[in-house]
Amino acid sequence: MFNKKLSNTTVFMKDRERVQNILQSMMKAGSNTLQVISDFDMTLTRFAHNGNRCPTCHNILDNSKLISDECKEKLTELFNTYYPIEIDVSRSVEEKLPLMVDWWTKAHELLVQQKIRKDLLAMVVRESNAMLREGYQLFFGHLHEHSIPLLIFSAGIGDILEEVIRQAGVFHPNVNVFSNYMDFDESGVLKAFKGELIHIYNKREGALLNTGHFQELRTRPNVLLMGDSLGDLTMADGVQDMENILKIGFLNDKVEERKQAYLDSYDIVLVKDETLEVPNGILLYLT
Ligand code: C5P
Ligand code: MG
Repeated sequence: MFNKKLSNTTVFMKDRERVQNILQSMMKAGSNTLQVISDFDMTLTRFAHNGNRCPTCHNILDNSKLISDECKEKLTELFNTYYPIEIDVSRSVEEKLPLMVDWWTKAHELLVQQKIRKDLLAMVVRESNAMLREGYQLFFGHLHEHSIPLLIFSAGIGDILEEVIRQAGVFHPNVNVFSNYMDFDESGVLKAFKGELIHIYNKREGALLNTGHFQELRTRPNVLLMGDSLGDLTMADGVQDMENILKIGFLNDKVEERKQAYLDSYDIVLVKDETLEVPNGILLYLT
């Protein structure tokens, strides 16, 4: 089954044999030793649909009617400045990291100024173009059915992300979320973001702050990791006594410039693949 999926034209691997060996040993160990750790934006959600970019959690809010036109302009300007830096392979992570902190911090400050009401978030998500990748029902449903824990680890906005999967009917009890959560005052108006900021290049620190979660999952040393950014590669750094890890990377944008870097760090690279077909094929093989 997965062999057929691995022949899809969107699939690239530096070392196919290594992938097959990892999968074989994960299959032998059994699905009760497996956990899945996935990024959210542009990994579980689509990057594009009919030629148009799909929104990230932040974009869902940025584009909504809860944000003034003036603020929208500023948020767009931030996106246009910092997103090219986020995906620029010619700059090192060390160089990009403080700039990413600036982006997230400035965007969150702008959002807080907008006095966003908690009770309107569901409507904002309903009216947005948020789209999970094709095959998401099978993906979430299969993990739920086999009681395989899914950690969604996102530098997006937890409240929005949860609403997207709730409205899609896939926020099953085996799903946990690490993300940036909004903090509301007593009248339900956004006043800040809670806890340590998670941005695209500090997921390792975020993972290490959540030792309790990984301690609970210590009987599951086999990990399927899914991301779309090179920053997502550290999401499993908190996993205890890891035995096998298979990393699947969605390469959505700037394909030619980034392909080698992705092939060097992800075991399977999915190029402009808007579906979850390959992860689903792998999950069916492993369970
Ligand atoms: O879920 P994930 O970790 O992928 O979420 C982070 C994504 O959100 C980044 O890839 C970034 O491009 C996007 N972002 C955004 N607006 C911001 C900050 C981040 O769209 N203000
Ligand atoms: Mg992402």
